[in-house]
Amino acid sequence: MNSRSDARDKIIVALDVPAKAEALDLVKQLAPEISFFKIGLQLYTVAGPEAVREILATGAKVFLDLKLHDIPNTVARAVESAASLGVQMLTIHLSGGEAMLRAAATARPANMLILGVTVLTSLTEEALHQVGVSERINDHVLRLARLGQEAGIGGLVASPFEARTLRDEFGDNIKIVTPGVRPSWSDAGDQKRFMTPREAFDAGADYLVIGRPITAHANPRQVVVKILDELER
Ligand code: C5P
Repeated sequence: MNSRSDARDKIIVALDVPAKAEALDLVKQLAPEISFFKIGLQLYTVAGPEAVREILATGAKVFLDLKLHDIPNTVARAVESAASLGVQMLTIHLSGGEAMLRAAATARPANMLILGVTVLTSLTEEALHQVGVSERINDHVLRLARLGQEAGIGGLVASPFEARTLRDEFGDNIKIVTPGVRPSWSDAGDQKRFMTPREAFDAGADYLVIGRPITAHANPRQVVVKILDELER
């Protein structure tokens, strides 16, 4: 990451807001600096494909974070629907199993990246035990990531603390997208384990997802400019 235009395409702002108007307002404010936005379950459930289309129509790119997990046919058809909207990235749970992953990878057009979610960072080892997973978290993350890669899933969502291990394991064959990023001068909120943007890129991330430090600030654009300035230094 050497130039500002590189960083502009590699920082994804999470539009975790309750309504389409707020999301579009953020996109308009940030468009000069940011070209990629994440739409998650909160916004998609209320504003749906219309919000996706309107954000894409501004020229921005969209990461649709729906974390799909269903039978292979249903997931494959949902991948086709997302592709027909024109989104650039879509998430899927790697724990959905090999057949589901292969169906998703096959349904994907070449210009859309599917990102596999390994283990949600909100889950503890104890919580995994409760649902029958007795492996250590790190081993389970690696197992799911390998399964995804073998099934043709091109990217992973991971904590910045897992990025180095995954990069060492898979080299440049996968894209790594990391939430859990906080500039050193911002409030950590409920993110307990986080890295600064520079640290996360150095750990091997291709893209960073940043939400509240930007979207909950009184002046979101100012925060973005500060982050980009720091990365450029
Ligand atoms: O506001 P914040 O920067 O914490 O937002 C991070 C975004 O990344 C949110 O949309 C959240 O759902 C997502 N995310 C996360 N931690 C994970 C996986 C996803 O914070 N482990």
